[in-house]
Formats: sequence, structure tokens, C-alpha cells
Amino acid sequence: MNKAKSNGRMPRAKGIDTATYYTPKECAKKVRRIVLPTANRRIVDEFLTILNMKEKFETHDVPIPNKLLMFGPPGTGKTLTAFYLAARLELPLVLVRLDAIIHSHLGETASNVRKIFEYAKASPCVLFLDEFDAIARTRENNDEVKEMSRVVNTLLQCLDEFEGDSVCAAATNLETELDGAIWRRFDTKMVYSMPEDEAREEYMDLLIGEFSCDQGVRDLASARLEGCSFADIEQILLKAKRKAIIEDRALSLKDIEESHHEYQPRAALVAK
Ligand SMILES: Nc1ncnc2c1ncn2[C@@H]1O[C@H](COP(=O)(O)OP(=O)(O)OP(=O)(O)O)[C@@H](O)[C@H]1O
Ligand SMILES: [Mg+2]
Repeated sequence: MNKAKSNGRMPRAKGIDTATYYTPKECAKKVRRIVLPTANRRIVDEFLTILNMKEKFETHDVPIPNKLLMFGPPGTGKTLTAFYLAARLELPLVLVRLDAIIHSHLGETASNVRKIFEYAKASPCVLFLDEFDAIARTRENNDEVKEMSRVVNTLLQCLDEFEGDSVCAAATNLETELDGAIWRRFDTKMVYSMPEDEAREEYMDLLIGEFSCDQGVRDLASARLEGCSFADIEQILLKAKRKAIIEDRALSLKDIEESHHEYQPRAALVAK
């Protein structure tokens, strides 16, 4: 029996102890506040619609999509989208960080990749490969570890043979480093970016919820937080709420401005 991992969660994907397993119910709980920008929502909805019409696609001899690649900066919702897919498909999510399966013996790494895909073939799930660039890097970029290109070949083969009721989702923020052949294997791609005005406002509404706040705070704060990722906005809002709670008053723009300053989101630092 595998020991509980440091996060207290049992890896239940048998044979691949580097994976973390989430039930559809756990996934649904995580995505209660997801904001998908219109273009990505459309892509996800179409992807899911097709998966629910398998027979029709078989009749027309048109293959169904089952591999989705997400790329873009940190904190913009790539991992969250994988949870969302699992929740909507009512499938478990099997999360594998590819950097965690790299072994000093590269033969082991290839064998780990194979095991993961074998698992997904046998047990319907959303197989989520996070930190995808760790293995799927351009073969030319892997000079120092020539052997690594063999692992990329294994990955290509696994992607080619991927079939059945599982879906493969992969995420990276180093998309330019991905091997061209790997890139081509993904039938669906989604680009993530810092939230636009509308998405930011929608997210602020969800985060503020029933919390009492000064008038106009949402719109003013949303404008101030332009350039922040969803993850930054969440942390800043939490900080601001704490300030309001300590002083037992409504959330103010000042709380958000101070929290923004204290939190120092990465994008804001770069822009300075
Ligand atoms: N689109 C979004 N809608 C709602 N919340 C979001 C969204 N994107 C990010 N968040 C919030 O930020 C947290 C981190 O997001 P997530 O893990 O999905 O980012 P990521 O794009 O996978 O980042 P990384 O590249 O660092 O892995 C989420 O748990 C959620 O609280
Ligand atoms: Mg992520």
C-alpha cells in the first residue's frame, strides 16, 4: 500500500505512485469559481459536446478529439481547467507532474511514461500531464541528455496510441520549447493569458461574494488589478478581506490597494 503523500492524499492510481487522484466530486468542488474567457469556454464546450456524441462521429468516420494542450503564464487557470474537464465529464482526474517522473535512469523515465498511459487506457479518467515541457521539450534542446529524445519518442508513441474513454490534458508555460511533433499530436489547444476586464470583473464578483464592501469597490479594484493573473487577484482579495475583518468593517478600495502593494504580483514587478 502506498503511503499517504505529503498533502495527506492517497495516490489511488495503482502502479503510478507519482500520480494524484481526484474524484469527480472533488473536481467539481474545486471549480466552483472558475472563470473561462469566452474563447476558451467555446473550445471546452465543443470538446465536451463531441465527447457526448461519440456514436454520431463514428457514423461519419470522423475521429473524436481526446488530447488537449493548455499553455500560458502561471495562475491563469490551466490546472483548474483540467479539474473542470473532469468534473464535466464525471471522470476522475489523474494528475501527473512530468518533472516528477524523470528518473536518473532514462529507461525508467520512459517506462514511467508508458505506465501512466497504460493506466489511462485501462481506467477512464482525465489524465492531466502538468509541467509538460519537462519531457516534451524539443529534441534539439536536449543535447546534454541525448537519451531524453528516446523519452520524447516514447511520449509520441503513447500519444498516438491513446484511445478509449480517457482524455489527455497537458499544461505548460514554456510552449515555445515543446517538440513540434508533440505539439502536432494535440487536436485541441487553448491559450491562456492574464484576464481581460470582463473576466476580472466576473472573478472579483465571485471572490467578493456576500462580503460587505464599500460602493463601487469591484469596478475600481478591478481596474487597479489589470495585469494580474487570476491567482494573484485571489491572493490580493484574501489579504484585503483579512484587513477588513481585523478592523470589523466593509471591504474598501484602500484594503485592496494596500494588499496589491504588499503582495507584489510578478507581472506588476516586471512592468515597473
Ligand atoms: N480562470 C480562473 N478562474 C478562476 N480561478 C482561477 C482561474 N485561474 C486561476 N485561478 C485561481 O488561481 C489558482 C491557480 O490557478 P491554476 O493552478 O489553474 O493556474 P495555472 O495556469 O495552472 O498556473 P501554473 O502555470 O503556475 O501551473 C486556482 O486554484 C484558482 O484559485
Ligand atoms: Mg498549473
